[in-house]
Amino acid sequence: MKKYWLIGVVMLVGIMLTVLAVTGSQKTSSNGKGEVMPSVNGQSTEITNQQYTLAQIQAHNAASDCWTTIDGGVYNISKFVTGGMHPGGSRILLACGVDATDLFTGKSPMGRMHSSMARMMLNQYKLGVLE
Ligand code: HEM
Repeated sequence: MKKYWLIGVVMLVGIMLTVLAVTGSQKTSSNGKGEVMPSVNGQSTEITNQQYTLAQIQAHNAASDCWTTIDGGVYNISKFVTGGMHPGGSRILLACGVDATDLFTGKSPMGRMHSSMARMMLNQYKLGVLE
C-alpha cells in the first residue's frame, strides 16, 4: 500500500516539473542567432533588460528587419516600418541598423523632435538595452 502511495507522489512531482519546464520555455525563444526574442504576448523586464551591442543592431538594417537604438533602448521596429504606421513616412528607414537618438529627438537635421506619444509607441517594440 505504502509503495503505491510513493509511486503516486513521484508521478505528481514529475507532472509538476513538466508543466514548469513547458511554461518557462514559452517566455522567450531564440531566433537562431543566439539573441533572445520577446514572446508574442510578453513584455517582461527580463526581456527589456537584455543587453545588445551596436554591432547586433547594425546587422538588422533592412525595412523588414529593422532594429534601432534610441536613448540606450534597443527596439525592433520592423512591424511599425513595414506596416506603414509612421506618420513621418519612409524617413523612418534612416533609423534601421543605427543609433537613431539624434533623429528621434530632432538633434539631427534629417529627424524631428517626437512627442511623448511617439516615445510610448516605441516602448511596445523594445527588445532590451544597449550594452
Ligand atoms: C528615427 C528615425 C525617425 C525619423 C527620421 C522620423 C521622422 C518623423 C517626421 C519627419 C515626422 C513628422 C511627420 C509630419 O510631417 O507630420 C514624424 C512623426 C512621427 N513619428 Fe517619426 N521618425 C523616426 C522614428 C520614429 C519612431 C521609431 C517612431 C515610433 C515607433 C515614430 C513615431 C512617430 C509619430 C507617432 C509621429 C507623429 C508626431 C509625433 O507624435 O511626434 N517615429 N517622424
